[in-house]
Amino acid sequence: MAGNQKALYLQSKQGSFEIVENVDIPKPGAGQLLVRIQASGLNPVDWKIQKYGAWIENYPAILGSDIAGVVEALGDDVSGFATGDRVQVLLTTRRDHIELTKLRRFFQGGWTNETSGFQQYTLANHKLVSKIPANITTDEAATIPVAIAAAAVGLYLSKPYGAGLTAPLDSESLGKDAGKPIVIIGGATSVGQCVIQLAKLSRFFPIIVTASLKHEEYLKSLGATHVLDRNLSTSALAGEIGKITAAPIAVVYDSVSLPGTQQTGYDLLAQGGVLALVLERAPEVKLVEGKDVISAFGFFNQPHSRDLGFKLYASLEQLLAQGTLKGLTDWDQPNRLEVVPGGLDGVVSGLQRLQNDQVSGVKLVVHPQETA
Ligand SMILES: NC(=O)c1ccc[n+]([C@@H]2O[C@H](COP(=O)([O-])OP(=O)(O)OC[C@H]3O[C@@H](n4cnc5c(N)ncnc54)[C@H](OP(=O)(O)O)[C@@H]3O)[C@@H](O)[C@H]2O)c1
Repeated sequence: MAGNQKALYLQSKQGSFEIVENVDIPKPGAGQLLVRIQASGLNPVDWKIQKYGAWIENYPAILGSDIAGVVEALGDDVSGFATGDRVQVLLTTRRDHIELTKLRRFFQGGWTNETSGFQQYTLANHKLVSKIPANITTDEAATIPVAIAAAAVGLYLSKPYGAGLTAPLDSESLGKDAGKPIVIIGGATSVGQCVIQLAKLSRFFPIIVTASLKHEEYLKSLGATHVLDRNLSTSALAGEIGKITAAPIAVVYDSVSLPGTQQTGYDLLAQGGVLALVLERAPEVKLVEGKDVISAFGFFNQPHSRDLGFKLYASLEQLLAQGTLKGLTDWDQPNRLEVVPGGLDGVVSGLQRLQNDQVSGVKLVVHPQETA
């Protein structure tokens, strides 16, 4: 499909955003879909790229990694999809072999302009696309890909990429972590909400979450068994956790990963346990023998993460449609969301709110097709 579209460009490193018209709509190559983007989710990484100049080297750049829309055209060798399908897409890349070490050192993620979310059309790797079941709106679908990727990578990839738990995505793997406690710091973050649901799928028990207590009921509806006030000190948290379970805390997932929450998570961890972070480890966290720390990167385009990504995306439609994976979990509540008006023009104010910490327990979404 030839033609033009509107896209939001970050003009230069640490520069400003601008809507550009008459951007070519890309043609899908082998294994790719062309998706007309109806909803695009905003993530903290988008403002961090602008503010710190990290992750991206080539400008002008199109950001945005949480994508949902409709299949517009199919490349060669694509099976299982047809034009008109509603789909959700995790930002993908043509650079299929990015080394994690490179990612860490240079913070060059998988962004290419043709596969990003803040535009009206994107290309997508068909193995990292999932059809959206009828019970999920397109807006809701746009809240899921990045958060579920960070959650799944942090829990299920082997160390040092993840906590090395067993992904409960096939019958042999179900229940491997049943009955073990998990602590999730920042349960109300988008990532945290997905970690809770995956922890439920893995049958962790209890699932202890820190958050603002106003989210208690909602987080329990996702699978948290206990919600503790995020403002408690580390020793108060340890005391509350001790009242809930006597079992050692072998897994802490810190979906906030500020230096203070990292230290708290590390201190709550038992010997032999692992702390999963969503950011790099803060240098001030004091490490001791026998406790691991990993940093999860929610990309499925690296050699070590691809299989997990393909497996998760192969299951996602079913998980969402049935609220269950082989009868084990309720997955019928995607993240709550707020649509920011103005199409792609809404991205700038939305990112500012994220940066100012003015977004609580909801995911911001824009509608690129409504761009003036
Ligand atoms: N590694 C990856 O692949 C990856 C992927 C996605 C995101 N991230 C990173 O993960 C972090 C979270 O991203 P997100 O999109 O999930 O965030 P988000 O949904 O925008 O997070 C907002 C929530 O953060 C919670 N929060 C803030 N400080 C907290 C604290 N000290 N303790 C507990 N909760 C706290 C607030 O909870 P309350 O409402 O309860 O106050 C608020 O609801 C960001 O740093 C982001 O850059 C990493």
